[in-house]
Amino acid sequence: MRLVLIGPPGVGKGTQAKFLVDYFIIPQISTGDILRNHVRNNTTLGNEAQVYMRDGKLVPDIVILNMMKNRLAEDDCASGYILDGFPRTIPQAEGLDDLLNILGHQLDCVVMMNISDSLIINRLSNRRSCKECNQIFNLLYDPPQQAGKCNKCNGDLFLREDDIPDTIQRRLSIYHQQTEPVIEYYTKRDMAEIIDSKGTIKEIQAQIIERIEVYNS
Ligand code: AP5
Ligand code: MG
Repeated sequence: MRLVLIGPPGVGKGTQAKFLVDYFIIPQISTGDILRNHVRNNTTLGNEAQVYMRDGKLVPDIVILNMMKNRLAEDDCASGYILDGFPRTIPQAEGLDDLLNILGHQLDCVVMMNISDSLIINRLSNRRSCKECNQIFNLLYDPPQQAGKCNKCNGDLFLREDDIPDTIQRRLSIYHQQTEPVIEYYTKRDMAEIIDSKGTIKEIQAQIIERIEVYNS
């Protein structure tokens, strides 16, 4: 199964991707997580990306496409993957098509997660993420068993530096301007499933599975 998850910041892409990893036994490829790992490790790429990420702006397409060219060629991608947060501009969607052609891969389905902007601030300001394994929690809707610690690996939880109200607003407006056109790019190809994502995490899991099982050949 080769899937793309598209949706505004905080809609639950990462949360659902982690569930789908276990369900289909394929890797989650989150461009945001890869970039944050680079920032944490002080790499050249991390230092370049941090300037954009801190302000809630998109990292340049060329940087993302080079990063994905390497990632999609890795062995664990041979039997499928979940792309979380990529592509999020038209040039990235076109670049992904080129990469897929070179690799001889085909996308099965694009899941569009929808939610109103008003619910997003609430979800994001209560999100906590694990420094070690990137597991995602929510202080209101999916709290960790022990305060400040990851259920999976006991790593420390942190609030992302782009999860502050002004930066969330900027991320949202960039989503509307630059990522929404990608939705049309895929709906034209009859491979897009739109998921209303205002319900509970479990309700959305069930909806996604019901809608994408048909693509799992
Ligand atoms: P990225 O990390 O991709 O962030 P994002 O797209 O803004 O999305 P988020 O990760 O914030 O939200 P999510 O949809 O994954 O929600 P989550 O599951 O965590 O990108 C960060 C930055 O990196 C970008 O701004 C950019 O600078 C750069 N970047 C990354 N990719 C790029 C690209 N392709 N091109 C250019 N730049 C790129 O859930 C959120 C919270 O809600 C959690 O607390 C969760 O527990 C909770 N939650 C989830 N579902 C529910 C539910 N149903 N009910 C209640 N709570 C819920
Ligand atoms: Mg995410």
